[in-house]
Amino acid sequence: MSLISLFDLNLEKIENLFRYAEFFKNKKTDSLFSNHIVAHLFFEPSTRTRMSFETATYRLGAKSVLLSGSHGTSLEKEESPLDTVKNVAAMNPDLLVVRCADTVDLAQCQKQLRVPIINAGWGKLGHPSQALLDILCLREKLNGISGQRILFVGDTRHSRVFASHQELSQILKYEIAVCGPEHLIFKGFQGVRFTSLDEGLRWCDSAYFLRYQKERFDTDDMLVGWDAYQLNEVSIKHMKSNAFFMHPGPVNWGREITESVLGDSRNLILNQVTWGVYLRMALIYATFRNEI
Ligand code: CP
Repeated sequence: MSLISLFDLNLEKIENLFRYAEFFKNKKTDSLFSNHIVAHLFFEPSTRTRMSFETATYRLGAKSVLLSGSHGTSLEKEESPLDTVKNVAAMNPDLLVVRCADTVDLAQCQKQLRVPIINAGWGKLGHPSQALLDILCLREKLNGISGQRILFVGDTRHSRVFASHQELSQILKYEIAVCGPEHLIFKGFQGVRFTSLDEGLRWCDSAYFLRYQKERFDTDDMLVGWDAYQLNEVSIKHMKSNAFFMHPGPVNWGREITESVLGDSRNLILNQVTWGVYLRMALIYATFRNEI
């Protein structure tokens, strides 16, 4: 089975993944899957997701093959990403981990292939492993996730992370709200929207800051208004003392968040990265065992 959308999973499967990830955090594993190969196809840039999937692959004893960007590949000879995925699948790896633009029909492609696919960031459409690792990271700090209020700040409109949290929040029953410049609010979002960051920060149990995705902007002036939604030494005073703040990375320091709050004990940004490896180990492990 593949993981394209979080609706491919259910509560039981997600709880199972979290249990595996917590197990992997506490126990070193070596050569569980030494005969397995994971093909990582990253058509769009990535640091955290690519390197944590590769680290997870090696920690499970499996082997990794990697395509990262177009340089030196037949993409430079006008082969499409879709054809590239199909050709690598024809080499019979045990799993494909794919990051691509939303112009690639990953969902349809997965139906045509026998090799499972994990979506590692699909244009604006979704980033399921990021949403899962975020909640796993928060769970370590909280008693439970159901009923928790998470405020998403900044560019929700272009955010695949926010798209995936919209799905995951329906399964795990946490509450989400948005806050940011009007023109950067996720189209069609029906939930609570705060126009004031201070109000939003007072409301939430955790605040999740998102990068302004200039590479997906239609016009340069879409950045207008960002400065009212920054976490800094002034706005952080409105956060509850037991609330946390997160960011999927890469952070544009001085835009979404200032370095002045880096040392705050409520900062979970690097904890997210650490949990990313264990969550991705759990995903690969469950896929190899045919459990998702
Ligand atoms: N969070 C995230 O997807 O980061 P990368 O783009 O570096 O993988």
